[in-house]
Amino acid sequence: MTTSKPPDWAEKKTKQKVIVDQRRFLWHDDTVEKLAFWMGLTQGMHALDVGCGLGYVGRTFWNYFGEKGSYTGLDSSLPLLGEARKQSTEWVQGGESSFVQGNAKALPFPDGTFDLTVCQTLLMHSPTPDAFLAEMARVTRSGGTVTCFEPDNVTVMRSRHYLSFREPSINDELLFIRVHHHWAEGRKKLGLGDYSIGNRVPGMMQKLGLTDIGIRANDVVGLVQPPYDTPAMIFRLDQLRRQVAETEKRCKKRFNIDREFRKLFFAGGGTEHVWRKYAAMIRRHTIEQNDAMKKQLEDGAIYTCGGSCSFYCITGKKP
Ligand SMILES: C[S@@+](CC[C@H](N)C(=O)[O-])C[C@H]1O[C@@H](n2cnc3c(N)ncnc32)[C@H](O)[C@@H]1O
Repeated sequence: MTTSKPPDWAEKKTKQKVIVDQRRFLWHDDTVEKLAFWMGLTQGMHALDVGCGLGYVGRTFWNYFGEKGSYTGLDSSLPLLGEARKQSTEWVQGGESSFVQGNAKALPFPDGTFDLTVCQTLLMHSPTPDAFLAEMARVTRSGGTVTCFEPDNVTVMRSRHYLSFREPSINDELLFIRVHHHWAEGRKKLGLGDYSIGNRVPGMMQKLGLTDIGIRANDVVGLVQPPYDTPAMIFRLDQLRRQVAETEKRCKKRFNIDREFRKLFFAGGGTEHVWRKYAAMIRRHTIEQNDAMKKQLEDGAIYTCGGSCSFYCITGKKP
């Protein structure tokens, strides 16, 4: 089953908060610089950001293309566009910006309009990513660039962090991986997108006839270590504090796993037996982990590091 209705990210304030939080320390500044060079950004370019949300991609790369250039943010959500327009006054200088409501499936621009067409975490939520990418290529001029920032989040879920508060047993980890495998399959089956789409985008670009296709990965590694003296660590520490407080509240009530997650697990071929084992493990794990985390946070002793960051920048040229 597939659905073509775009999710309304602005309907729920929490989704907006997720967009903001996940992007605050998404890239190192020197990586942005390197990517801008690699993507061939030059001042005066006309760029389109499809599924722009709050305009994060524009904000990140503006300094490399915006002078005498332009940024057009397109999104299906009017409230997000309104907020993006408001925020753009902070970063759009020396060039122009516009924000347009539309559907990525049928972009409201003539062929060959833009020098650069980008999307970020759009294809991963789409039931029709090939159609979205084809539209992006269509509105890019000959010789222009199509860039997708998309992840392989399924691999991220399988990666290991070092945690000072609790190292899960290998059996718990395998169970976690199994359940997330079914969850990711369920998302695809129900037309909610492919969380590992980043791995497929170079092939999708090739099928469309784009050339000079390349892929690079983000090099941020999440580190939280005393004395927590960088802005990124202070931010992550704050997130851990919030997480502990929220989990504590949840544990006081009856601890339930998100219903949507359960639905996707079963849609993706999960069984009742595995679910019961998983639910018991998560309850036990969460309670133990939360207590240990809380103590280490109070003592200023928490340390976490690692996991993989499979977030890609993928580019291709329109011939
Ligand atoms: C995960 S958010 C990413 C936002 C932004 N690119 C960023 O990285 O911060 C996905 C965005 O795509 C938009 N979207 C989803 N389906 C769409 C469609 N068919 N056409 C246009 N926008 C769409 C959503 O409204 C949302 O703003």
